[in-house]
This record gives sequence, structure tokens and C-alpha cells, in this order.
Amino acid sequence: MQKLEDLPSVRFGDGLGGSLAFKRDPLAFLARSRERYGDIFRFRPFGVPMVMVNHPDYIRHVLVDRGERYDKNATIFKVIRPVLRKGLIANPDMELWRRQRRMMAPHFTPRAVGSFARNMTDETVQIVDRWKRTYGDTHTFDVTDEFGQLALRIVNRSLFSADVSEAAQGFERAFGVANTILGAFFRCPFPPLSVPTPSHRRLRRAIEDMDEFVSGFVRQRLANDVAVGEESDLLTLLLHSVDGENGKAMDLEQLHHEVLNICVGAYETTTNTLSWAFYLLACHPEAEKQMHAEVDQVLGGRIPQFEDLPRLTYTRMVVDETLRIYSPAYQFMRRACQDDEIDGYRIPAGTNMLINSYFLHRHPEFWPEPERFEPERFSPEESAKRPKHVYVPFGSGPRICIGKHFALTELTLVIATIALGHRLVMPAGAPEVHPEALITLHPKDGVRLRLERR
Ligand code: HEM
Repeated sequence: MQKLEDLPSVRFGDGLGGSLAFKRDPLAFLARSRERYGDIFRFRPFGVPMVMVNHPDYIRHVLVDRGERYDKNATIFKVIRPVLRKGLIANPDMELWRRQRRMMAPHFTPRAVGSFARNMTDETVQIVDRWKRTYGDTHTFDVTDEFGQLALRIVNRSLFSADVSEAAQGFERAFGVANTILGAFFRCPFPPLSVPTPSHRRLRRAIEDMDEFVSGFVRQRLANDVAVGEESDLLTLLLHSVDGENGKAMDLEQLHHEVLNICVGAYETTTNTLSWAFYLLACHPEAEKQMHAEVDQVLGGRIPQFEDLPRLTYTRMVVDETLRIYSPAYQFMRRACQDDEIDGYRIPAGTNMLINSYFLHRHPEFWPEPERFEPERFSPEESAKRPKHVYVPFGSGPRICIGKHFALTELTLVIATIALGHRLVMPAGAPEVHPEALITLHPKDGVRLRLERR
């Protein structure tokens, strides 16, 4: 077996082993390094030892086949844990995570999320009406901002059965602050978050604001608890969930963290995907036309329902292809908690493994012309030709996104609902939109489009 040190490595001369280039522009640095060193290489941004893996076999190895040897004590989760704490996303305690996941999983199955489909289409109809009143068909507007409001309204109506418009603005602002500060901190972890710099103080306030947003709803519900029924919101379901093994419910602190994790997990990811989807559709009229033809044929002018999803196949392929090109949760990590071996190289316990789906989803061996937007890649025939782990927008293995079905239902229904009567078009001379590598992959400066009646 070869040693970790034998892996191809970014040279120290390359901006202090990649530190400076990774800090300045992580996507450009990783693209260059991947080209130079291949599908597995190591680098040490600011002294943190990392191995980047970029081949479906390695991804399956780390996330699934040897998943028990890798945990969430990796640097990126340490960075976001001050926000997400003991909730599912960043929790390194596998026993607590397993118990929580067991309790929560039944509320996120494809069938269970079907009960939230009405929230998704109702909120979309309302926001399109507001766009018509506010912007008409002449003004361009920041769709990223608007989809942020929509995503938050949908997840919060599903969680709390509440109209959150006013409180939501505070949450969005606080999330934006945390995403930017923590994104920069991940690229250069100095000074430590415990040092009260002005930016770290702003982060603390942002966390307090997000906490206040969640605890307001939880407090209200505790004061007026309701029994579980057919139409229960997620908060009621979580409040009344008990662990099948020990019969216990989760304590209030844990409930708070899980609700916050759901808000955070659902908010920017869907916002960005909707922004990129309409940006890509506006740039690719042929694909847009094909999607409109499907929406017209399947829906005949009526609002889509959960039951329509199996027939909205092209719309779903648009979603899948958007998630390939601009995977919003584009980087996640694991830390080896035991010694392991990948492709003949020893991976000692403590090594950080970086998985970056921005590059995996562009791997030239599996994705011809990877920069091209081509929803047809996701037809059942084309998908069957690829290894499963070359496409992981929701991760894989036991820690796969719990909200995957919620997200896919929401994205497909929102896009189809807008496409019923409208398109979002690119104003003449609009600049190309580039991704910004924060904790999520955000469209830099947002996407600006104009509403047009079809
Ligand atoms: C386009 C939308 C979404 C994308 C691309 C996405 C992506 C991901 C990814 C990649 C992970 C796994 C990270 C890892 O393995 O380290 C994850 C985990 C998670 N996501 Fe999502 N997500 C999306 C929407 C949602 C929604 C709608 C919710 C909630 C309703 C949600 C809640 C969560 C939670 C709680 C976890 C942690 C799961 C666990 O470790 O048990 N996500 N997500």
C-alpha cells in the first residue's frame, strides 16, 4: 500500500500549497489542480490536510461502501456547526444522528411530502400574481431574491402552517450574512470564530436572528399544541414524533435545532436551483419550448398536482440538469475516523476528504461537453449508462439529504406552475451570470429576468 504522502499533491510553490489560490477563487484553483493531478490529490489550505476525490468509485467508497469509516468531523461541518448545532446536517454524533433520522425520516418520504404539494403551487401562484402587479412585463427583477422569498414561504408554511412574510426578511438577511462569513472562513479559517472581530460579531447576531425566527414559531405552537391529523404541518409531526426504539420524543433544544436545519437546508438550495433553472431556460429556448409543450399537454392549463409529477418528465429532466451544472450544495466533506485505503493509497484517520460535485458533475469521462445544458442526459436510457455516484446533488449513503423528495417535488411543481402561463426572459445585453462559491453555490449578484406572458 502506498502512503498518503505518495498521492499527487499541490506544490508548496503554488500559492503556499494552494492556500492563497483556494482563498481567492476555490473553483478556479480546484479546476486547475484537478486537471494537473487527476481524480485524487491532496493539498493543505492553511495547514488543513485535505484529499479531494473526484471519481464515482471514490465517492461511493467514502459515502456508501466504507461510509462507517468517515464521519462529519470534517472542517466544513466544524465551520457551519455554530449555526446548525445538533441538527441532522452537521451532527458528528452518529448515535444521536441515527435516532433523529429514524424519527424524522417518515415525514420526508415521497408520499409524505405529497401533502405539502398544495403549499408549493399556492405560494407560486401568489408570487406570480405579485410579480405581475409589481413588475408587469416591462421591468426586470432579481429572481434570486424573489425565489428566496418563495422557498422560505413554502418550507415555513409546510413547517408552521404560517404566513411568514415579515419575519422571513430577517431570516433571509441573517442567512445571507452567515453564508458569506462562513464561506470566507472555510476558505481561510483565521482568526478563529471565537475572536470577536466585527465580522464574527455580525455572524453571532445573524445566528441569534435565525434562532429568534425559529423559536417564535416553536413557542407559539407549544402554547397552542394541536393533535396530529391528515393535514398536519411538519412542526406538529416533529413535536409528536417518538423514537420507535425507546419511545421518547426529542427534547425542545433538539427540536429547535432540527427545525432550523430544515429551514437552512431547504432555503438557499432551492432558491439557487430555481434561479439557475430559469436562467438556463432563458438561455436555451429549445429546451424551454419542449418543457412548455409538456406542461401544456400534461396539465391542459390547470395547476399541477402531486399526482402529475410522473408525467412531467421533461420538466424533471430540466431540474436534474440544473442540479448537475449548478449543484447548490456543491461541496461536502467527510473525515476518516479510522484508517482506510483508497485505490492503494493509505488514508490515515483524521484525513479530511473533499467531495466537490461542481467538478464531479463535469467529469469529462462521464459527461460529454459538460458545460452544455442538455436535459436529455437525464432520460432513463442515458442515466442508465452512467455510474450512479457520478451524480450526487443530494449526497449519497445514510446521510443523503432527507429533504430530497421535498426538494424535487417543489422544484418540479414550481417550475411547471410558472410555465403554465409565463416565461422568464433575459433582458437584451444582460451579462452572463457566474457562480459564487460560498458555503452554497450562489449566482453571483443574483439572476435578473423579466416576466413575459406566454
Ligand atoms: C435543491 C435542494 C437541495 C439540495 C441540492 C440539497 C443537498 C443536500 C446534500 C448534498 C446533503 C448531504 C450533505 C452531506 O452528505 O454531507 C443534504 C443534507 C440535508 N438536507 Fe438537503 N438539499 C436540498 C434541499 C433540502 C430540503 C428541501 C430540506 C428540508 C426540507 C433539506 C434538509 C437537509 C437535511 C436536514 C440534511 C442532513 C441529512 C442528514 O445528515 O441526515 N435539504 N442536502
